[in-house]
Amino acid sequence: MLSAALRRPIRELPDELISQIAAGEVVERPASVVRELLDNALDAGATQITLRLLAGGVRLIGVEDDGAGIAPQEMATALKRHATSKIASLQDLEAVGTMGFRGEALAAVNSIAELSLLSRTAGAEGAWLLDGRTGELRPAARGPGTTVEVRELFFSVPARRKFLKSDATELAHCIEAVRRHALARADVGFAIWHEGKLIEQWRAQAGPDALDRRLADVLGEDFLADSVAIEHQAGPVRITGRAGVPDIARSRADQQFAYVNGRFVRDKVIAHAARAAYEDVLHGQRQPVYVLHIAIDPARVDVNVHPTKIEVRFRDGREVHQAVRHAVENALAAPRAALLGEPATAAAAWPAEPPSFKRFEAPTPVPFAQAAIHFEARSGHVVQELQALWQPHAAADRAPAAPATPEADPAPTWPLGRAIAQLHGIYILAENHAGLIVVDMHAAHERIVYERLKAQLGANRITSQPLLIPATFAATPAEVATAESAAAVLQQLGLEITPFSPKTLAVRAVPTTLAAGDAVELARSVLAELAQHEAATVVQRAQHELLATMACHGAVRANRRLTVDEMNALLRQMEATERSDQCNHGRPTWRQLSLRELDGLFLRGR
Ligand SMILES: Nc1ncnc2c1ncn2[C@@H]1O[C@H](COP(=O)(O)OP(=O)(O)OP(=O)(O)O)[C@@H](O)[C@H]1O
Ligand SMILES: [Mg+2]
Repeated sequence: MLSAALRRPIRELPDELISQIAAGEVVERPASVVRELLDNALDAGATQITLRLLAGGVRLIGVEDDGAGIAPQEMATALKRHATSKIASLQDLEAVGTMGFRGEALAAVNSIAELSLLSRTAGAEGAWLLDGRTGELRPAARGPGTTVEVRELFFSVPARRKFLKSDATELAHCIEAVRRHALARADVGFAIWHEGKLIEQWRAQAGPDALDRRLADVLGEDFLADSVAIEHQAGPVRITGRAGVPDIARSRADQQFAYVNGRFVRDKVIAHAARAAYEDVLHGQRQPVYVLHIAIDPARVDVNVHPTKIEVRFRDGREVHQAVRHAVENALAAPRAALLGEPATAAAAWPAEPPSFKRFEAPTPVPFAQAAIHFEARSGHVVQELQALWQPHAAADRAPAAPATPEADPAPTWPLGRAIAQLHGIYILAENHAGLIVVDMHAAHERIVYERLKAQLGANRITSQPLLIPATFAATPAEVATAESAAAVLQQLGLEITPFSPKTLAVRAVPTTLAAGDAVELARSVLAELAQHEAATVVQRAQHELLATMACHGAVRANRRLTVDEMNALLRQMEATERSDQCNHGRPTWRQLSLRELDGLFLRGR
């Protein structure tokens, strides 16, 4: 039996079967057809594209465009395999700027469904209709542009049809295909009809904020408020788009849109680079939301590597990885405060570098032993006063002093405004031009401390300060062992912890930034963290965890009463600190309540 099969003659496959095999690779479900037809419409220069579906696209997919059209004598050719108007040579392929280039899609779809082409070119007297099955071409009525109708998908391939999901699921996939195209081309209008009902419509946008408006239409207004603009040029690579702030991260990676020269792609290099950019602000498994447009010389990217063109290969993956990572990192690092309020007026309200934006420098620290000691009500612990970090002069010396009375300056120019009160020892309330700002003071301060430690560690090691009186504590054998084996790492982290007796450790120096905290608690938690890792590589591998642990100890605790000057100092530090919009766990550190929202609470102005 097997040997008989082995002796069969070699034959060329019939064209129809070749197309059906090719279709198997290209068309998995109705959404695949939608994607191909939208690509074609965009390549034809359409400005308005309408999609009509029946039964989730299984019974009918119709795509109508106002593009260049197809001349009647070319319509039959358009349905042939390897027939394309888009490239003519290998050189063309290497520099291809169109979505299509294989001359494969219509032939493939025509082999597994009933396809018709209705088209009229710009100067033509009338339209023509081609029946894909019979090949009959006859005059018809239509304005300039093309309508492709695909009926009964997989009618000739019942096995495939069985794999289709419910109409609702297939419809959702079709809509997703249109969303991907719509986010790539804000200048084109899109409409989706299902079973005779208009279910989505995104108008064509023009002007400098066209992409933003399309993003708001497709992803919702909230996305604009909860994301930051990306604008980055690195050599031949240009990156634009928007990065969602960490608190809108999701459990699934279903809102990540990456484009290479206008083509939606799923690419490991891009995805990895984007994830890495969020590393600092998004811990755990949460998935960021972003829309990334990568413009690159077509010669530096191969688009001909995947049957559905959803994957690409970069000539220099490192170059793209770095560009994406930096682009997203920079966007996330810019304090979001600068984006508050109406985007158009924000620039006028706040000069790019107002005087108060000077980077905060740590004040000359008060030696640890001299720092006041106070009683922390909640924990019942005696803790060091936090004054080393909280001296109001720290910011006041360097920034214009905050007005002492609220009425002195009704429209503060600081993005995070002027502190007015503290709420329940947890929140700071501040007034800015847009309304009320609420700051989670522990989360915000933790972030500031974290960023400061990270910057120092990046520059070599964390600056430390010796304690006048070493803080000793009873240690476990494991703690003593870790202190000895990880002495070098501890030094890098600004800590000096040495054995005092076989069962006692002494903390002799602590990071200057954390000088006001509890030295013993800090030492204990860092030792515990270090014990879990290989000492030699811990700083590279567990930097975020280590610094987050340290920052948590150095940050102001809840229930600490702050003076107005201290609160203002914190707000000014936040404005000057990268990524201060989120705490180390990705939660927001502050929120704005606009006057309009406040008015809404009281039903004012209705
Ligand atoms: N909506 C349209 N408007 C104008 N011309 C079209 C349209 N759709 C298809 N065509 C023409 O038909 C040709 C064949 O389309 P088809 O999608 O099969 O191949 P392609 O787009 O060239 O390449 P690919 O297989 O990569 O999509 C195109 O090259 C184009 O000239
Ligand atoms: Mg095509």
